[in-house]
Amino acid sequence: MNATAQNAEPFKVEMVIRADQPRGTINRNIYGQFTEHLGRGVYEGLWVGEDSLIPNTRGIRNDVVAALKRISVPVLRWPGGCFADEYHWRDGIGPRDKRPRRSSASWGGVETNAFGTHEFMDLCEMLGAEPYIGGNVGSATPQEMMEWVEYMTSDSDSDLARLRRRNGREKPWKLAHFAVGNEPWGCGGNMRADYYADVYRQYSTFVKNHSGNRVRRYASGGIDTDFKWTETLMAQATQQMEGFSLHFYTLPTSNWERKGSATEFGEAEWHATLARTIRMEELIRQHGAIMDKYDPQKRVGLIVDEWGTWYDPAPGPDRGALYQQNSLRDAVVAGVNLNIFNRRSDRVQMANIAQMVNVLQAMILTDKERMVLTPTYHIFEMYKAHQGATLIPVEMTAPEYRYGQASVPSLDASASRDQQGRFHLSLVNLNPNLPAQISVRVVGAAPKNLTGRVLTARMMNDLNTFDRPDAVSPVQFKGVAIQGGAITLSLPPKSVVVLEF
Ligand code: AHR
Repeated sequence: MNATAQNAEPFKVEMVIRADQPRGTINRNIYGQFTEHLGRGVYEGLWVGEDSLIPNTRGIRNDVVAALKRISVPVLRWPGGCFADEYHWRDGIGPRDKRPRRSSASWGGVETNAFGTHEFMDLCEMLGAEPYIGGNVGSATPQEMMEWVEYMTSDSDSDLARLRRRNGREKPWKLAHFAVGNEPWGCGGNMRADYYADVYRQYSTFVKNHSGNRVRRYASGGIDTDFKWTETLMAQATQQMEGFSLHFYTLPTSNWERKGSATEFGEAEWHATLARTIRMEELIRQHGAIMDKYDPQKRVGLIVDEWGTWYDPAPGPDRGALYQQNSLRDAVVAGVNLNIFNRRSDRVQMANIAQMVNVLQAMILTDKERMVLTPTYHIFEMYKAHQGATLIPVEMTAPEYRYGQASVPSLDASASRDQQGRFHLSLVNLNPNLPAQISVRVVGAAPKNLTGRVLTARMMNDLNTFDRPDAVSPVQFKGVAIQGGAITLSLPPKSVVVLEF
């Protein structure tokens, strides 16, 4: 399936990096993750329990934590998604053998509640990630939401703070991110925008700051291109929010009934997937333009707290659990989206790929005691130098990559400068057939000590399996040189490269 053509003529790109025009900081939370009580995302993927034969620390698996630490997860969203609006936090505290077992209305099966607030916060501390909690608006009261925040963050002598201490946590946790509901237009309550705007104003009022903790409250956005929803929420509730969310998934077919296969695809699906994924930039621009009307200072962050590929379920026991394989195509999707978030980091303050382990576009897949890192994981690892760095504008002229009547840019890029003054340039060649011959001029800095890594594969749908875990993994990039002050490089077809200089 589309092995690289031999002797293919490269397409040419002239690129200018404006080191003389640094922009703002790329919020490191753009590299955030999401985990939901869904399929094998939390249970097995993260939580195996203290008595498991799988090596664990307080019930959380060591191999997965060690791998995630290598990508520097800045923030982790939990417990949903749709699950958040059916979750009652008191079910998940106290002795585990006394916690209730409940039907999971959203995703089926039984929720044991073994993984609750303390276990989630423990995981965040192991990862060094900030917790991002999704509150229940759909089936709980504002009081329940208010009390959860107090339980987690109060250092007072209140009954809730005492209860937390009795459950083993003396000091309150820091909690900076809190979503007031999830997809209220659908699984979160089937609300209309005007109604949710009022509900949001009401519930967010009771998300209080305790003991010096400052919580940022995030309102839910509408579906994809629902600009009216954005207009309504911004017009009616800007003063009550610090963030506004956007969910946008990449389906090869753009059809929820028949999304397309994760592994069996040809160039038509490759192109269609990329054509869909690059819509992210336009969506951010359009929702952002509405936000600008009500929030010209860009105080309210756009929080892209669900994004990534979503394919048809593979046959087998995981059907319905949103488990899917992850190929080189997913790596390219990740590279493009992270570049978009970098470029739009004036408005995008956080993004959380769906989802961290075993669900949708995962970083890690597990099978009992085995674990495999996906191509997407490697992109997050290669791009982590952008976290908290200064955005540097990139200008370029690149040809289109056409397939049939459709076309997408053949090359995508973003650049940043870290606190040590090193530049990082991430490049994605979307064209699966042609290499890119790129000439990069850096204005305002002289490139030196250049190194790079590349992620590519022979076939578009190459992937990592439990038996071949390193089939798609980054290697040193050799096709680059500095000539007359400019960087010249040859980027392989269907590849992602990160340069440092
Ligand atoms: O990520 C899977 C689901 O997709 C989430 O639960 C929901 O918010 C979205 O529709």
